[in-house]
Amino acid sequence: MNLLYEGKAKKIYGSDQADQVIIKFKDDTTAFNGLKKDTLDGKGKINLKFSRYFFNLLHSNGIRSHVVSFLDETTLRAKKVEIFPIELVVRNCAAGSICKRLGFKKGIKFDPPMVELFLKDDSLGDPLLCKAHLNYMDLIAEEDLLFIEKQALKINDILIGSLDSKGITLVDYKLEFGKAEDGEILLADEISPDNCRFWLKGTMESLDKDVYREDKGDLVQSYGRLLDILGI
Ligand code: TMP
Ligand code: ASP
Repeated sequence: MNLLYEGKAKKIYGSDQADQVIIKFKDDTTAFNGLKKDTLDGKGKINLKFSRYFFNLLHSNGIRSHVVSFLDETTLRAKKVEIFPIELVVRNCAAGSICKRLGFKKGIKFDPPMVELFLKDDSLGDPLLCKAHLNYMDLIAEEDLLFIEKQALKINDILIGSLDSKGITLVDYKLEFGKAEDGEILLADEISPDNCRFWLKGTMESLDKDVYREDKGDLVQSYGRLLDILGI
């Protein structure tokens, strides 16, 4: 296969269809913009399982994504999209960078949820974006931004509806969207404990990448525990 792009956790290959790509989930894990790095056996497989579960859940609730089909344990076929250089973070509770940046106490609830925008640019460390910046940066059309912000909140309702009943708190997550060749805006990237924070309900016990970021235990074991809880 023809490698088009290699990211920190995924490889993207060309496919037999000009408007589709093959995405391979790697076992590589990074944190702090690549400063911490490891290869964790089985992580790619596990994250593909989570992504299949969440993308299927979202599809059946009317959210369109780049996924065309799941091919094997570590690869999926997706529509080729041009990713907006913006990462959307939706926060239902305070954790991670919002506590460090602004002093919010870990665990306090944000209701309605908070939506933050970050510039997708590793060389700048993915900095926080304010709406004021957007007027001077050619990142996304105003109507496209409104659309993806609305989608991110719809996704929040769907995910919380499913996770809460299974005893999991959806703390926050990062989404990426892209535009397909026909102009449709699609949810892209992945949905897994790499880009979401999940806590055991009623506690602040992490079943997500914070286990790795904060050296709190074995990531693959924690992800496996979450698979069991969700019945995946
Ligand atoms: P943050 O609290 O570090 O800003 O992270 C917010 C959410 O975004 C959290 O669920 C983890 C996710 N995230 C990514 O998916 N990729 C990243 O590079 C970072 C920093 C966070
Ligand atoms: N994507 C981040 C990295 O650059 C990791 C994180 O999720 O914090 O390594």
